[in-house]
Amino acid sequence: MQQINQQRLLGWIDELGQIGAIDGGGVCRLALSDEDKAGRDYVVGLMKSLGLEVKIDRIGNVLGLREGQEDLPPVMTGSHIDTVRTGGRYDGNLGVLAGLEVIATLNDLGIQSKRPLGVAFFTNEEGSRFAPDMMGSLVFQGDLALETALAVRGIDGTTVQENLQRIGYAGDWISEGQLVPTAFVELHIEQGPVLEEETITIGAVQSVQGISWTEYTFKGVSNHAGTTPMRLRHDAGYAACQVASFLRALAEKVGDDQVATVGRMEFKPNLVNVIANHAVFTVDLRNTDNEKLKFSEQQTLSFINELCEKEGLECSSKTLARFDPVIFNDVLVNRIESFAKELGHSVKRMPSGAGHDAQMLARMCPSSMIFIPSKAGISHNVKEYSSPEHIEAGANILLNLLMELAQA
Ligand code: HGY
Ligand code: MN
Ligand code: MN
Repeated sequence: MQQINQQRLLGWIDELGQIGAIDGGGVCRLALSDEDKAGRDYVVGLMKSLGLEVKIDRIGNVLGLREGQEDLPPVMTGSHIDTVRTGGRYDGNLGVLAGLEVIATLNDLGIQSKRPLGVAFFTNEEGSRFAPDMMGSLVFQGDLALETALAVRGIDGTTVQENLQRIGYAGDWISEGQLVPTAFVELHIEQGPVLEEETITIGAVQSVQGISWTEYTFKGVSNHAGTTPMRLRHDAGYAACQVASFLRALAEKVGDDQVATVGRMEFKPNLVNVIANHAVFTVDLRNTDNEKLKFSEQQTLSFINELCEKEGLECSSKTLARFDPVIFNDVLVNRIESFAKELGHSVKRMPSGAGHDAQMLARMCPSSMIFIPSKAGISHNVKEYSSPEHIEAGANILLNLLMELAQA
């Protein structure tokens, strides 16, 4: 069994963590922002220093390719380096840098694998500026048309295309559905409390839960906060808040894995003494069980229709993302489990609560994920943390599994 160089990997994580750094030790590198560009430039520099051929496709996905003895489809790993506004330094970044650490270790050992190896970072995995999430990997896989993705207008009103060109990452490599990897394995932090609560080091990820993102717009009547009797109000702000509390009760009623979040909400005119005539907000519903997810979607829609009827509001909605649950390749999950055991780590098979690029690669090749614990289950928060020991454990499994796949 080979070992990665832990210090080198931790050093890269720290360096990348300085780019777009924000108070509290986290990072803010929203997709296609100047900070994202700086992060991309850093990782591309690393790829070149490791002797990789760097390919940039038309949605800005970046793939570092290491030649194999034979010209076969590459074994791939990777993740994302774009972050949310209150991002941690491990979400996505760990998977990309650990992939490069695998390359560096093979370089150190002078090993050339039979199959080529590829390390990618995909554009806009987070989806919080431009929906949907996993946008780049879905274009890479082929199920999201490039033109559709390029035309997406983000929360600040600018398009993916404008920003991709502005940061200089609108590549010319036509990747969509053209490059079918032999397999794809992604190392990622769990971003939840399960592994830590059960004091387990490694998650062998079997599936990703279904994701449903919708943006709702309520239109009411702005009016004077002091003079307008309650019975005459058409208050978009009140109604939007009602949905948020309805969703908490719904998630508790559905139970099991159901989660529901109103993460973004904007009122207009957004003033203390004016009844809001305009509210835009997002609903994020997820469940491992697609039928229960559909039930939650339906319950939400009928609640909103009734509420808007009663309050005299106009309602419109836009689906931002809708992905069914994904099952990963069982053979890969088994190999992750056995490598973990052979390396002396506790391991458990588990679902992923978060969306990941691997769920899109799973549409085109055998894919799976390796999880390591997140301290206190925290993520999408500057306090996100994983220990050097867990990082090393996850990266060593990635190294040995990728080597095995690339020799097959
Ligand atoms: O929202 C997600 O699950 C991921 O962080 N994009
Ligand atoms: Mn992620
Ligand atoms: Mn994330």
